Formats: sequence, C-alpha cells, structure tokens
Amino acid sequence: MSRPKNEVEEEYRNPTEVKKSQIVMPCHANHRQELSVGELLKWMDSTACLSAERHAGCPCVTASVDDIHFEHTIGVGQVVIIQAKVNRAFNTSMEVGIVVSCEDLFSGRYWKVCRAFATFVTQQSTGKKVLLRPLVPRTQTEQVQHSLAAERRRMRIIHADIMKDLLTNRAFQPVEVQETEKAVPAERTRVESVELVLPPHANHQVNTFGGQIMAWMENVATIAASRLCNAHPTLRTIDMFFFRAPSHVGDRLVLKAIVNNAFKNSMEVGVCAEAYQGEEPLRHINSAFMTFEVRDSNGKPCTLPRIRPEPLDGLRRYQEAIARRKIRLDRKYIISCKQAEVPLSVPWDISNQVYLSYNNVTALKMLAARNDWMLNSEKNKVSLYTLEEKQVLGFMIQFEVDVQAQRAFQLLADLSRRVEWDPYYEWCSFVNLKVPEHKRSRGRRIQQVQGKCELIRKVDDDDSLYRVVTPSVCQGLVSNSPSSIPEGITQDFILLASRRTPCDCGDPYVIALRSVTLPTHPSVEGYNRGEVLCAGFSIHEVSNNVSKISYFNQASPEVLPYISTDIAGLSSSYYSNFCACSTFLHENRGKPNTTRYHSPSSPVETTPL
Ligand code: COA
Ligand code: ADP
Repeated sequence: MSRPKNEVEEEYRNPTEVKKSQIVMPCHANHRQELSVGELLKWMDSTACLSAERHAGCPCVTASVDDIHFEHTIGVGQVVIIQAKVNRAFNTSMEVGIVVSCEDLFSGRYWKVCRAFATFVTQQSTGKKVLLRPLVPRTQTEQVQHSLAAERRRMRIIHADIMKDLLTNRAFQPVEVQETEKAVPAERTRVESVELVLPPHANHQVNTFGGQIMAWMENVATIAASRLCNAHPTLRTIDMFFFRAPSHVGDRLVLKAIVNNAFKNSMEVGVCAEAYQGEEPLRHINSAFMTFEVRDSNGKPCTLPRIRPEPLDGLRRYQEAIARRKIRLDRKYIISCKQAEVPLSVPWDISNQVYLSYNNVTALKMLAARNDWMLNSEKNKVSLYTLEEKQVLGFMIQFEVDVQAQRAFQLLADLSRRVEWDPYYEWCSFVNLKVPEHKRSRGRRIQQVQGKCELIRKVDDDDSLYRVVTPSVCQGLVSNSPSSIPEGITQDFILLASRRTPCDCGDPYVIALRSVTLPTHPSVEGYNRGEVLCAGFSIHEVSNNVSKISYFNQASPEVLPYISTDIAGLSSSYYSNFCACSTFLHENRGKPNTTRYHSPSSPVETTPL
C-alpha cells in the first residue's frame, strides 16, 4: 500500500491549518480563576471559522458542533493553544477539526483540554451558498480524518431525527420522579437573559458568530446550574447541536435555561436561544444540553440535590434528560471498549444503534488506514498482510478483481451468499441454500457440523444483526487449536454488520462487522461465544471494471487458529479462500442479485473470518 512517509508529514503543514495562542487573563476567567468555557467556545469557533474560510475563500458560518467533552480546566496565567484545520469539504459544508491544548509556562508541560468537530457552511453576502472545491488529503493522518469525516457527517445529519425518534417513540421506559423533601423545584433554576447583537459579535457579513451565541448560552446554563447547587459548577459536556437559523447584527437574542434533571453527581441543563427584531416573531436559533458537575476542594464530585420538575414540559424534559444520559453513558462505554479487553462485545440496543454503527465503520476505516501493515506473503496477487499489536493480531487480505466496485459490494454485503465461496461454511448445513456439489468441501478432515445462522434483525438499510454459528477449530481443521475452547464445542457470534456506500468518489465501499451482546441472545450451552472486535471488507474502485478488495480482521483468540498456519507460512488456505471469493465475484459480476437483500426469512450466515 502506498502511504506517505512520516517524514513528509513532519515537514508538511496543512494549508487550512490555523493556530491561536492566548494567555488566559483574569478578564477571561470565572470566579475559580479558570478560563470561562464561554470564552473558550468563542475562541474555538473563530479559529475554526478562519480555517474554513481559508479553504472556502469566502465567508462561512457555523452550522453545527459535535459533542464536546472538557477533560481539564485551564487556569489564569496558562496558555491556551487552539489548532483548527479542515478535514473534509463536502458540497457547501466542511468539517473542521479543532484541538485545544494548554501550556503551563512555568513547568513547560502541555496537555489536551478537548477536541471538537464543527461544521461550517459557505455564505455569500447575497445569502447564496458556494460550492466548495474538494480537499485532497496529503498525509496519512489527513487521509484518516478525511475518511472518518464522512462517517461523522452521516451521524450529525441524522442526529436530531434519531434523538427525536428515540424520545418520542418510547424507546425508554418513563422513570418515576423521586419525590424527596429536599428536592429543588426546577422553577427555581429558570434563567432568562436578552442580548443585543452588536457589530463586535458578528463577522463582516453581519452574521452573528456561532461562538458568541454558544458563549451566551453557556452563561445562562451556568447560572441555572449554580442555582441548583448553590456553588460554582464545572461544565463537563455539551451535546451535539445545530444552528437552525442565522442571526444578524441588530437581533435581540433571548436565552432561556433550566435544569432538566439532576443525577447523583451531574445535572443536565437545557438552553434555548431565540432571536427577534422589532415586532417580528421569535426565530429558533439553537437548543443545547449541557452537563455540569460540582467538585469539592479536593476535586471530588459533590452529591447534588434532586430536582422537582414542573408539570407537562418540565416532566417531559425530566424524562428526556434521563434518556439522553443513558445515550451519553452508552457512548462512553463504546469508546472505552478497547482491543484485548474482555469483553470485546458491547451491548446493542436501539438507543445506541446509530453510534455503534458509526463506531463499527470508523474502527474498520481506522484499521484500514494504518500504515504499519507488513506484507506477510503473496501468491498470485493475493496478498496477506499482518499488523502486530500488544495482544491482538490484525490481518488483511488484499486482491484485485475484474468486477465493478459497486457490484462487488452488493455481492459481499449479501452475507447469505458467503457460503458460495467461503469453505469454512461448507460444513454448515443451511436450509433452503443450494450449494452446487462441485463447490462443496474439498475433502477436509472435519466432520459436518449443523450450522445455524440467522438474521436476528434488519435494523435499517445499512445495519443488520446476525447470529452466526461456525464449526469449532478444535475439530481437526487446524492443529494448534486454542486450549480455551473445549473439544467439540461449536462457536457462535452475535454480529452487527454495518454497510456504507461511498460519500464521494475515492471513498471505499465498507462492510464492517463487530460483536455485540443482545439480551435476547445470551450464550447457550454447547456453543462457545466468540467475539470479533473489528472485521470486514473495504472495496476500492480501481477503474470502471476493476476493484481492489481488502478483507480485515483483528483476530481474537477464537479466530487466530484459522489464519495462524497461513501467517506462519505452513499453508496458504487464505489464498484458496480468497481465490474462491474472486471467482464468486467474477462469476456473478453481471448477474442481478437474486437472493433477497437482508431478507429476514432467508438463511444468512457469515463468519468471523
Ligand atoms: N450538521 C452539520 N451540517 C448540516 C446539518 C447538521 N445538522 N444539517 C445540514 N447540514 C449541511 C448539509 O449537509 C449541507 O452540506 P453540503 O452542502 O456539504 O451537503 C449544508 O448544511 C446545507 O444543507 P441544506 O439542507 O441545503 O440547508 P439547510 O436549509 O438545512 O440549512 C444551514 C443548513 C446550516 C445552512 C442553515 O440551517 C443555517 O443557515 N443555519 C444558521 C447558520 C448560522 O448562521 N450560524 C451562525 C450562528 S447563528
Ligand atoms: P425541549 O423542550 O424539547 O427540550 P427546546 O428547544 O424547547 O426543546 O428547549 C431546549 C431546552 O431549553 C429545554 O430542554 C429547557 O431546558 C430549556 N428551555 C426551553 N424553554 C425554556 C424556558 N421557557 N425557560 C427556561 N428554559 C427553557
């Protein structure tokens, strides 16, 4: 794989990159002598905007900002360094990556404060949008961010609808309000404030800076949070939000905040920003949800009083805050689930589906983008690469095939057809599936195992959940079976399969697989529950009729024996497998897809390999 050298990365500076360095003065700080988050948000937004405008060559406005987690506070006298660069340009919008770090001038230490992704859209004085030229990533880091930006964009565009769906379709059971005498009436935390938008709050096109609005929102949210705890709270997280409509110089911005719910050590404050001019009706500009906590003098989180919500809207927001908290916690868990940690599987449920799907595809794209893959062996242009990490072995099998990328994707994404080329499945018996005799087992020693593979759920057009049963490696397939799997026990996997078509030409088609847990499908006696952290296909269009297929797997102990003889050079079964795959793709390249795509009734199987 041709990848830019690290040296190139060191010398090169992204032309859209901008950097702001600012010493924190008392006028930027709150009562704890820490940089006010509102001030930081203004700096982040203006730095990111300059980066976006550098690429666009015209004025830009903030469309949205993804979740921000503040990992540290910054004290007076310390230096804030904000770096922003455009990760990807789409049509009229761009994703800008922002990294905030802090420097202590006395010790010379640096640390990361937060990372954020903001989307900017072009805006001409005429109000017209401008089509952006594409941004070509140069370094490996840029290529990864360019690729992941498409995935993040998908997430943020559907974010509002997904949240609305989850909250309105009763994906969460309503929780009873815990009545205690000490509960603080939510009404007591209600804040309202009005701001007149003046020229210093806006750019030269008179559009109000998004960062300024965020700072005003943070101000009212902090007041609401302080009213609950009678202390100075610390802002930990701002959920992803979207600027629904523009605001201009001369607008009156009305900001309203209230504590929606208080948990043991954290509270959710909701803020709403609306604008008006003269007699005009209010225009909804933005709504945000912020999580605050209170720390004592030793830095320990303080227990917060309960909240007594107001009826109707207050009660609804109280329930919705619980649901959002669960979503936040699930996401934290998904991110924290690392390689080689047990369990590899994360719980799947409808409330974390979108994020898990994003995570599934992102993990595969990041694995594919690694530049330390080592070529292990090559046979007739089918190459086996390996990637050794502490406790996990990754492998990649790559080959080209004379089939259109879209068609190859269609064929490989239809997991029910894998039996047509993957010999590891020839021993499984599938109801309704006619595998031609000449394609059946080529005299292996393994005995036939009843394989049961089911499509558990087609979640949406891109995602499906499968239970996959594979023969145990202990049954004679390979000699070095892992001792952890008892003799004769068959393995099963609960897999989330996420598929993506390219966002733009140059992007690959992706089929990502990872293990999840489902309460409806616990592990059962007689089956060893296998786990896959990250596996799947990435399909690149080489030319109109040629695609490059890359198959990846971060091998867990259950999977390793399938490939270890190949890696050790003792066999080349990977080669025959993927030759069979190539033949399968070739033979079916022109045919319409006859099997039903993700049909719940058709037998579906896949393999961790
Ligand atoms: N997050 C990020 N980008 C989003 C988005 C979201 N939630 N929703 C839409 N977009 C992107 C679209 O993907 C599209 O990008 P593309 O052209 O690269 O594909 C772009 O915004 C325009 O989308 P479109 O559907 O044509 O426009 P829209 O009518 O939904 O308007 C805004 C989107 C952002 C332009 C509009 O809501 C707006 O003007 N908001 C105010 C922005 C502003 O003034 N901010 C400063 C502070 S007030
Ligand atoms: P929702 O009511 O669905 O949460 P809104 O956009 O109306 O969405 O409001 C976002 C948040 O702003 C609310 O959750 C609430 O915390 C806060 N908020 C809205 N209206 C008011 C208000 N009149 N007074 C105080 N806070 C408000």
